[in-house]
Amino acid sequence: MIILSPSILAADFNCLGNDIKETEKAGARWVHLDVMDGDFVPSISFGMPLIKSLRKNSDLFFDVHLMVRDPERYVRTFADCGADIITFHLEAASDPGAVIAAIRGEAGKKVGLAIKPSTPVAEALPYLDRIDMLLVMTVEPGFGGQKYIEASTARIQEARRYVSERNLDVDIEVDGGITKDNIDMVLDAGANVIVAGSAIYHGDIGANTRYFMERASVHEAAGNE
Ligand code: DX5
Ligand code: ZN
Repeated sequence: MIILSPSILAADFNCLGNDIKETEKAGARWVHLDVMDGDFVPSISFGMPLIKSLRKNSDLFFDVHLMVRDPERYVRTFADCGADIITFHLEAASDPGAVIAAIRGEAGKKVGLAIKPSTPVAEALPYLDRIDMLLVMTVEPGFGGQKYIEASTARIQEARRYVSERNLDVDIEVDGGITKDNIDMVLDAGANVIVAGSAIYHGDIGANTRYFMERASVHEAAGNE
């Protein structure tokens, strides 16, 4: 199944609730929430209070991307705020296995594992059978609006190959620089969860969302995922 996860980082926070509803009306079922701590990544975005307040007014699937050092400190808090899946960075955790156990076991949420563009995809292999989603970053994490790193395409293919070879039910998410011009390419490479910030929230939100949903259904009909 192909899923679109619009990233609110590129949204106008003055009208956030309504803008998220626009994506929902146009068919989106997920929302991507980028939490940045100013340490693991240089920028600071938003945290618990925002997610908690969005949760009150939304039944969408909350895809929380933690760009936070020592993520185990925050698993319980983000679970309580309404996350449906919690994705943490392999590079940010001293004991990734323990973070996975905390997310699934203690918090009862789905588990995502993210890798930066410079981290070999094979480093995720020891955890692949314990996660629900592998996030292959297609830009350096930290800011929206960056350009897709071309070398990511081979990394998506590699990730998809590892999952297929092992017959695992693990989603492959891509995040960063995804646009109308490269959506087909990342779907062809094997991604099935597509994060898009600027490409959704800059301009006509409904029309942008519909465009991405349409590409997703074309690929689904063609038999990808
Ligand atoms: C970057 C974030 C992304 C960001 C993507 O560190 O993880 O989710 O919002 O934004 P665009 O789609 O504008 O590259
Ligand atoms: Zn993200």
